[in-house]
Amino acid sequence: MRFNPAIGWPAGRLRVINLEAGTGVFLVVDEKAMNSEALHNSSFLRACRRERTDYTPIWLMRQAGRYLPDYRKIREKHAFLEMCKRPELVTEVTVMPIEQLGFDAAILFADILLIAEPMGLTLDFQEGYGPSLSPAIRTPGDVGKLRSVEASESLGFVFDAVRMVRRALPYQTPLIGFCGAPFTVASYMIEGGASRRFQHTKSLMYSDPETWNILMGKIACASAGYLNGQIDAGVQAVQIFDSWVGCLSEEDYRHYVLPHTQHLISALKPGIPIIHFAADGGILLQAVRDLGADVLSLDWRVNLADAWAAIGYDTAVQGNLDPVVLCCDRPTIINAAETILERAGERPGHIFNLGHGILPDTPVDNVRILVDVVHEHNGA
Ligand code: CP3
Repeated sequence: MRFNPAIGWPAGRLRVINLEAGTGVFLVVDEKAMNSEALHNSSFLRACRRERTDYTPIWLMRQAGRYLPDYRKIREKHAFLEMCKRPELVTEVTVMPIEQLGFDAAILFADILLIAEPMGLTLDFQEGYGPSLSPAIRTPGDVGKLRSVEASESLGFVFDAVRMVRRALPYQTPLIGFCGAPFTVASYMIEGGASRRFQHTKSLMYSDPETWNILMGKIACASAGYLNGQIDAGVQAVQIFDSWVGCLSEEDYRHYVLPHTQHLISALKPGIPIIHFAADGGILLQAVRDLGADVLSLDWRVNLADAWAAIGYDTAVQGNLDPVVLCCDRPTIINAAETILERAGERPGHIFNLGHGILPDTPVDNVRILVDVVHEHNGA
């Protein structure tokens, strides 16, 4: 390829790294191709593919959140939903834990309930109360009124944020996109917010399976479009959060939930690792494995060695550390992290994470201790 002074090199793609004066010969690198290779070979993506890594990659659920003093400063000035809708704020808080703590992957700052707005519900986050959705969806008529989602229009702010975050992140750091699993999103819609017993959710599921299936199908369909939009915009992996599915038996999970999550997964663009997280899902592990996700996220109630053996080593695993451990002293953190690393047994396909989201009052220095222990341990 020759340099044409009138045209130059295509902007940003080629960089002159050596010039033999007078000969007109340039050695050039395709920076974009080099960056995407570094991304592809990042420890996190290699672990998702169960390839060997030099060290165990680590990221934490809710790493972009309230335990970070700089997050709290921004949050003082902006409501949570407003932050989700402003790509420059999303970018700042998504990149923040990467810069400050050295995690091996970033997770997009957003929320699993954003999808409910374009479906026709009002979403609200009130201080101290968690999310609320209205009107609650409980009858065939309510389900019938839910709109199908044209994600590129109604959730375009999320895709804009993905593009902006991708440009701001170190080129070798993967970005994880996400959505809620149909059961968890349905439970918020039916209960109108968080719940302890899931009484309305289970009542609809047991007593009117037809309406239940229509609702779950609508959520799965909207979520697939939403995740595919994130993939098109530039995320390198996706995680599906089933935070409340632990309230079901394995039999009910297989009957009422699994086909819908499977439908969502089968509608995703190929080539992107899929992580599935079922909180309190110990008894569901065999069923969840049948979803065919690339990585399963484990909570702290299971022993990682036993769970991985039961799932099979052809699936990667993530998670397992009790978030409360990060509120304890240094020896406790080191001991708990090393126990998990030993249970993973240096097998390829282990990603370090918590069993659920990091608690807001976690001291940031404790997170530093954890990242160091994991990175200094011999790689998988
Ligand atoms: O992990 C990350 O750092 C990325 C961002 C992220 C958020 N929510 C930001 C957020 C992710 C991946 C989620 C997923 C999510 N949201 C889940 C699944 C994961 C889980 O924890 O089980 C669920 C169930 C939700 C719904 C939701 N959003 C709840 C229950 C709450 C209230 C929590 C609380 O303690 O007030 C939220 C709000 C929310 N989502 C916050 C953040 C950083 C807190 C907002 C704030 O007040 O600053």
